[in-house]
Amino acid sequence: MAQKNIRHYLQFKDLTRDEYTYLLDRSRLLKQKFKNYETYHPLHDRTLAMIFEKNSTRTRLSFEAGIHQLGGHAVFMNTRDTQLGRGEPIEDAAQVISRMTDIIMIRTFGQDILRRFADNSRVPVINGLTNEYHPCQVLADIFTFYEHRGPIAGKTVAWVGDANNMLYTWIEAAHILGFKVRLSTPAGYALDPALVAPETHGDFEVIANPNEACDGADLVTTDVWTSMGFEQENEIRKKAFADWCVTESMMARAKPDALFMHCLPAHRGEEVTAEVIDGPQSVVWDEAENRLHVQKALMEFLMLGRVSH
Ligand code: CP
Ligand code: NVA
Repeated sequence: MAQKNIRHYLQFKDLTRDEYTYLLDRSRLLKQKFKNYETYHPLHDRTLAMIFEKNSTRTRLSFEAGIHQLGGHAVFMNTRDTQLGRGEPIEDAAQVISRMTDIIMIRTFGQDILRRFADNSRVPVINGLTNEYHPCQVLADIFTFYEHRGPIAGKTVAWVGDANNMLYTWIEAAHILGFKVRLSTPAGYALDPALVAPETHGDFEVIANPNEACDGADLVTTDVWTSMGFEQENEIRKKAFADWCVTESMMARAKPDALFMHCLPAHRGEEVTAEVIDGPQSVVWDEAENRLHVQKALMEFLMLGRVSH
């Protein structure tokens, strides 16, 4: 039974444009406090449960460090050591975990699993990545763009690669925040229409040629050819995606001040060349760091609402 008055963050469209404006400002302020070694503990004594059904470096570390910096505590749980791995129903797990904690982050497979968990949770649930969406990452990416270039509204984002959780999230973000996505995926790896809401159709353009997709872009971004959970397709994907590698010549087709982003982990020589990801237009380390700051703002917002101190 869904609980009333709880805000979850299961996909990018769960927040409004106005709330994102607040969160970006708040992220900047919390980042500043962190850089100044300022103690700020609005979530004193609060507990974050982090449930991982897939591997993670950035998500785990940024949530764990983030709740600690806000005065709270994190509990790491994975499928291997918990009863989730032995078939305990997700609804039962949600009831139990949400009675002992104050906020929950989950990285899992299908969005339906996350949704069922949230429907049975008494506390806010955050998507730490599903097969369909990765909203915390795109929030960090948009904050990174904002820091380097200002608001993303009216800009163009080029996507070169797989139609995966990152791309579906970029499309939702484009609709909410008012920017365009030019996307190119290999034949056989097109967008799944079931994951693209009709209201977003005007927010993206599908371009067969990956080089052309980068024309005039303010930001060029990509991701792994094979996402977690699809490892058995790795060899066949390597062949299909060979031309969907972000190169310096692609970056040269974008605007001269275009940024390059990748959520990481990356495979140099596959979806991006070393020259691009390690080059002057790349902001990948800022993106990774900013996971910490935006998720602190997000956890604070979901638990306390808007704050002004
Ligand atoms: N980008 C990202 O979510 O990284 P991890 O898989 O390391 O958490
Ligand atoms: N699309 C990738 C993102 C990893 C952070 C995956 O789902 O594996």
